[in-house]
Amino acid sequence: MGRPTVVVTREVFDDVLALLREHAEVIDNPTDEPLAPAALAERASAADALVCALTDRIDDALLAAAPRLRAVANIAVGHNNIDLAACTARGVLATNTPGVLDETTADFAWALLLGVARRLTEAERYLREGRWTGWQLKQLAGADVHGATLGIVGMGRIGQAIARRASGFRMNVLYCNRTRLPEPVEQSLAARWVDQATLLETADFVLLMVPYSPATHHLIGADELARMKPSAFLVNTARGGVVDDAALIAALAARRIAGAALDVFEGEPAFDRRFLDLDNVVLSPHIASSSVATRRAMAMLAARNALAALRGETPPNLLNPAALQGR
Ligand code: GLV
Repeated sequence: MGRPTVVVTREVFDDVLALLREHAEVIDNPTDEPLAPAALAERASAADALVCALTDRIDDALLAAAPRLRAVANIAVGHNNIDLAACTARGVLATNTPGVLDETTADFAWALLLGVARRLTEAERYLREGRWTGWQLKQLAGADVHGATLGIVGMGRIGQAIARRASGFRMNVLYCNRTRLPEPVEQSLAARWVDQATLLETADFVLLMVPYSPATHHLIGADELARMKPSAFLVNTARGGVVDDAALIAALAARRIAGAALDVFEGEPAFDRRFLDLDNVVLSPHIASSSVATRRAMAMLAARNALAALRGETPPNLLNPAALQGR
């Protein structure tokens, strides 16, 4: 059998391409233009493996256009862009990149939380626009983070990394999760398991870190926002679609909650432009895992997953073990 072909759908680091080229013919995307479905299908038609990103929709139509495909290696921990059932049905192994981005993503969740509490981006706009004429007692006064109550919705690896950082701020940590953490883990995080309603009603900062799925679609909508304290803030580092953005805009505009910090949006990279008119929201373009070291580690892990699958091994981060049966 000749060398396999790996299609890399977005720009990655040179050492990642070099590793892939040791073992495969590589079709890369140095321009980094996101590929429209037809262009992606055209490239994938020759591929034995895809190293892809959350901007690529991997559905049955794509798989049908790629008869040689044996593996889809997502450069992300979230994998809602991949139809796992379709991959399994066609014996295509799908993988993600858990673990390597936890700490970096947790760091950024804190950047957002602190930013919105202390009105950082609003303050910078104020200064850049030349509106600062002098010190005032109440100027841009925000909310304290230390000693406040942090409510984490979704206490997986990243949620736990976020919780660990809360002790430095002497915060009270609540969480809700499908399954309760073992008691020793709860104790080490000083985190208390509560139901979602209690968390929403009690937390000063509600931080979302759940995977996106039909079960978490609009997990936070008008009713949930109405449960939050008027002084509370919402932070979304999970996925667009977990929050009903229109409901959030209404709540922010009416000051039914104090503010929000968002790294992800429904329909991104498009997003509801009404967010731009609100001062009480901090916005970033889906960069929570974006440190150089972590993005490199994610791409490298995806490449290793793809190569393992091509060697006939079980990739380290296999999402659909049932697909092994179809091989
Ligand atoms: C980023 O959002 C990821 O899922 O890795």
